Amino acid sequence: MQTPVTFTVNTTPLLETSCDALLIPVQQDAPLRPNAAALDAALDGLIGDMRERREFRGEPNQVAVMATLGRLSAARVVLLGLGKPADLTPVVAARAFASAARTLGKRAPTVCATDLADLALEASTAAVAIAEGVELSRFALDLYRTRERPESGIRELLVSGATEAALRQGSIRGQARNIARNLVNEPGNVLDPPELARRAQSLAEEAGLEVEVLDEEAMQRLNMHAILTVTRGAETGARFILLRHRGAAGDPDLALVGKAVTFDTGGISLKPVTEMGKMKGDMAGGAAVVGAMWAIGQLKLALHVIGLVPAAVNMPDGRAWMPGDVVNTRSGKTVETVTTDAEGRMLLADALDYARELKAARVVDIATLTGACVVALGHVASALYGTDADLVELLRACGEETGERHWPMPLFPEYGELNRSEIADLKNSGGRTAGSITAAHFLREFAGDTPWAHLDIAGTSQHDKGKPWAPAGPSGTGVGTFIRLAEMLAHGDG
Ligand code: BES
Ligand code: MN
Ligand code: ZN
Repeated sequence: MQTPVTFTVNTTPLLETSCDALLIPVQQDAPLRPNAAALDAALDGLIGDMRERREFRGEPNQVAVMATLGRLSAARVVLLGLGKPADLTPVVAARAFASAARTLGKRAPTVCATDLADLALEASTAAVAIAEGVELSRFALDLYRTRERPESGIRELLVSGATEAALRQGSIRGQARNIARNLVNEPGNVLDPPELARRAQSLAEEAGLEVEVLDEEAMQRLNMHAILTVTRGAETGARFILLRHRGAAGDPDLALVGKAVTFDTGGISLKPVTEMGKMKGDMAGGAAVVGAMWAIGQLKLALHVIGLVPAAVNMPDGRAWMPGDVVNTRSGKTVETVTTDAEGRMLLADALDYARELKAARVVDIATLTGACVVALGHVASALYGTDADLVELLRACGEETGERHWPMPLFPEYGELNRSEIADLKNSGGRTAGSITAAHFLREFAGDTPWAHLDIAGTSQHDKGKPWAPAGPSGTGVGTFIRLAEMLAHGDG
């Protein structure tokens, strides 16, 4: 795994700092801010010249690397575009720094320096954003390339005008997202439910969380029949991971529930060849919960939060769950199986029922639940549902703040009727139309009276295309939203 970046508060004036590179943000169509202006003067008007020639205009995520040829203590200057001042947000800043850091990413390890004075943002907000962005840039997909992978990219960032606390907060956010992305990136033969449980366990220890891993016997005792049904065709056993951050007394203020199907073949209702390979990432919801819980523990938030991660493999086999089967869920509600490929809602049914029993004040689940969600919202936004308007709005706002888009969807009762079965209480597919909505309706049946919200991240858990700030692949979506949500609830803003 990639080593986290070291963030240090810098007290030497930026242009006098000796390091490998200075990171200088430049606004588009706006005056140069202090260090950019001083640098421009030191380099005989080079930045102004580049702006005039439209070589570098400061557009969002634009990056230019220049040698200083002995005219500064730093060997290189990296100009990074922030876009127009009116559009500057912490997310824009984080992405701009991530883009710059990724440009340096393949070069030799570097010590870089930057100054918050160059960002028209409140200092602690800017420090968090920069640290998060630079840490996010460390994520790499090529974990299993056997050719030598030399340590590269930014090793240390010196930040003028920052506090240790703000830099640590940003670093934790970035690391938490990368924890989720790395888990999603792992193939199914490495990351099976027991391995996911082991990783969750060691991350929990690192973050000071309580952790409990239930094997199938323990799940049996807790009547998690739906999860045990899904796992029946698989060689590797299911696990139920329970993480707890007891940052406040009393019952849990928040339960986070994440689907973790470490590989989804579709089961007896086998998926087509072309759709299947990506299903190693069908545990992105569980990964987001693990990453967010790790951060919540590290940040010692004054909130009692539990994370529930039902983990299983969906496989066809002689003993496997079959279409037509009626499944008795933990809640006592019976489900007719239309397709064994609608396995995620079965895992979540038992997990949501358990969260209800653990008396969580509110529950949010997150899952790569439906292909229909990808059809509806593409790879841009997650589908957001809920029974509690305040919780839904809070999640939407937390997502917006952290660059994760969640779009509210309707739960009209007419959609729920599509889940009615002739022979059982529910069926596990409402048919071809409105598939993400009917799946959400199904989950709602298991949250009981607990205020509940649901994120369908089937389209957003992976970037379909590379971005300047991130490669195509695992996005870590949900982690930022959940950390922010926990912060808001802990500070009484919820
Ligand atoms: N894991 C899939 C959903 C999915 C699809 C995630 C594409 C990411 C990308 C889920 O278990 C599934 O197979 N859902 C079915 C449900 C249907 C059979 C009711 C689907 O969406 O096709
Ligand atoms: Mn499936
Ligand atoms: Zn699935």
